[in-house]
Amino acid sequence: MTILDFDNRALNLETEGNQVKRILGDDVYQNKLSKSAKSRKPAPIRNLFPYEHAPGMISMLAGKPNPNLFPLVSLTMKVRSSEHRNDDALTELSLDGKDLEVALQYGPTAGTPELVKWLTDLTCHLHGSQLDEGWRVTVGSGSQDLLYKALTALIDSEDAIFLETPTYPGVLPIVQSLGCNIIQIPSDADGIDPSSMALILKSWPKEKPYPKLLYTIPFGSNPSGSTTTLARRLEVLRLAREYDFIILEDDPYYHLYYGNMPRPPSYFALERKVNGELGRVLRFDSFSKIVSGGLRLGWATGPQMLVDAIDLHGSSSNLQASGMSQMVVIKLLRHWGIDGFLAHAATCAQFYRDKRDLFEKYLQKHLQGVATWSTPNASMFYWIRLHLPPSMKAENIKNDEGDAVLFLTEKAIPGGILVLPGSCAYADERRICNVRVSFSLLDEENMDEGLRRLGSLLRA
Ligand SMILES: Cc1ncc(COP(=O)(O)O)c(C=O)c1O
Repeated sequence: MTILDFDNRALNLETEGNQVKRILGDDVYQNKLSKSAKSRKPAPIRNLFPYEHAPGMISMLAGKPNPNLFPLVSLTMKVRSSEHRNDDALTELSLDGKDLEVALQYGPTAGTPELVKWLTDLTCHLHGSQLDEGWRVTVGSGSQDLLYKALTALIDSEDAIFLETPTYPGVLPIVQSLGCNIIQIPSDADGIDPSSMALILKSWPKEKPYPKLLYTIPFGSNPSGSTTTLARRLEVLRLAREYDFIILEDDPYYHLYYGNMPRPPSYFALERKVNGELGRVLRFDSFSKIVSGGLRLGWATGPQMLVDAIDLHGSSSNLQASGMSQMVVIKLLRHWGIDGFLAHAATCAQFYRDKRDLFEKYLQKHLQGVATWSTPNASMFYWIRLHLPPSMKAENIKNDEGDAVLFLTEKAIPGGILVLPGSCAYADERRICNVRVSFSLLDEENMDEGLRRLGSLLRA
């Protein structure tokens, strides 16, 4: 198979037909699981749930409330079409009967079976996976919930991990609280830079175990907005295999890729295209950016043993993601089918591409000469390097570029413009002059005015 990389180089990946599939054994994950994951006991009631479905079983097991007492009897939803956002063409879907009963009752920790099946089919469709490859899907209360459980299931305080930086500020408190050695791997407009990882690994002390995992955001990274090129993904995967680490692929912006070049494959897909060794990638997807953040639904896909560890945690913490949210999504997905879902996702991507283009226009208009940036090909973020005025720079630091935190508190907030200072995206909270700006909610007038304010504060 020949795939074009972003820089138009053709990269030859072995065709699937020629490959021998090698699925990693459980011993690989057993060595990776944290002490807390290994010592976690199954929740007694949930552990017996599967027996409820045995033929002829009379279950007196769970404290499931009697649905005849639930006050909700029927709900109606009006749904936009997947191709366009014309509110004259709404479809009415009702949620009642058996579906409502399932929505309102306790359900399996891994998710409502129909949703799990749908997401499993979607994974096969999008990433070329097959069912016999040792992976499964679990649904969580947003990908944040699943990330928390996965990181807790993998990391002990004595471990080292790789973190793509700048990184999603929401993941830092998790890894920091686990007390591990966080090795920050830089990224640029082409995504994570594996060459620095390779250097670190080459000179890794013999007596110390290699880092256990890499956390990376391959499409439209939050906060950098960058999408990792295929060449870099291949190198990351090669290193993961050579040095035996797990790739945590946090991909809530997968569907919001709007670049001109063909979409690079996910790590989950890439694994099976290159030499056929499977099982090193744990993927996180989210409904938040394409359906709704308030539903709190995401899903993790990866090696059975790692997903089991996530569910074991769930079975004694939040028990399951909201059954009502899951049923709302099931209703939508039944109505759309995979094609309708993908058409909706494409509509979202196009929407953000148009916004990106407009935002870029006002960046050029107001920030030329006082800031630099790369244009994102996915998601909703610009990572902007501010050329801060001398008053924001420290005299006692050589070549100091200033600190965006100071700019935020002393200039931006009083000046009526709110941005995220870049230091929040680093484990060491370093002084940095970058800010993350999100263009998702802004109309043209606010883009113009917001960036005008930012520009004039930088020029003051
Ligand atoms: C990179 C990244 N990961 C995870 C999340 C959490 O998403 P969710 O709403 O699915 O919990 C976000 C949310 O902004 C994000 O940007």
